[in-house]
Amino acid sequence: MGSMRMSVAVVTGAGRGLGLRIATALAGRGHRVVAVDIDEDGAKGAAAAVGGRGFGCDVADRDAVRELAERVGPVDLLVNNAGIWRFGPLLDLGRADVVDVVNVNLLGTLWCVQAFAPGMADGGGGAIVNLSSGAARMHSAGTGVYPVTKNAIEALTVQLAVELGPERIRVNAVAPGSILTEATARILGPAERAERDRTIPAGRMGRPEDISEAVAYLASDAAQYVTGQVLYVDGGLTSGRVAAP
Ligand SMILES: NC(=O)c1ccc[n+]([C@@H]2O[C@H](COP(=O)([O-])OP(=O)(O)OC[C@H]3O[C@@H](n4cnc5c(N)ncnc54)[C@H](O)[C@@H]3O)[C@@H](O)[C@H]2O)c1
Repeated sequence: MGSMRMSVAVVTGAGRGLGLRIATALAGRGHRVVAVDIDEDGAKGAAAAVGGRGFGCDVADRDAVRELAERVGPVDLLVNNAGIWRFGPLLDLGRADVVDVVNVNLLGTLWCVQAFAPGMADGGGGAIVNLSSGAARMHSAGTGVYPVTKNAIEALTVQLAVELGPERIRVNAVAPGSILTEATARILGPAERAERDRTIPAGRMGRPEDISEAVAYLASDAAQYVTGQVLYVDGGLTSGRVAAP
């Protein structure tokens, strides 16, 4: 970063939820956003909302990601936000429930880094922010391989930080706790939400802007000496629970 041209920021899974919020926050800080989503309409809608470009692309499809990177050209920032989960007990998981989650969460992150990191900021540096999850630290039965992929993303973040350090590319991750998005609202009933508001040390579930602010910080020059880190933005959820009154 730091060049005179406007910084270009790729955000995957930008069609809705945290990705859309992150795209909005980065656009508000002067980045030209490239919104990427498997849902092409979602990507275009996000692009229209934040004044950027939008592309339909499955991050798990390595060739498609490479073609996309050629079309987009040099970027300064990559936010690997696209992620899916298929919950169920490990012993009962079908092959697709394992392969799809690994393909999108872990391999999709790596394919995007391989495609967008070379030539980042015209070879002058850049930043990558990956999305982990509080689930990487706090395992709950029945969450399939989702927590496994998020632990792997944290390990990948550290290894990438080491390998890409000499290219002046910083690589960090944000691990959201329990954040209220369209996706989590579908699976959490009012009683479960109230329970979380009572037991999370910060006294509430997270908001999408809690995450977008953390991503924006790690992407910014204010974090120019921060790399290889995972920032837990969870209101204390993974540290412990407040006893219910
Ligand atoms: N919401 C939370 O509480 C929470 C907590 C911890 C971690 N996270 C992580 O944050 C990220 C975003 O979560 P969210 O709640 O906004 O989810 P979401 O389901 O609302 O949004 C995910 C977006 O990614 C897109 N997507 C899915 N598969 C894709 C693929 N193969 N290629 C490109 N795009 C794809 C979807 O179309 C969707 O627009 C995920 O990585 C998730 O694991 C979320």
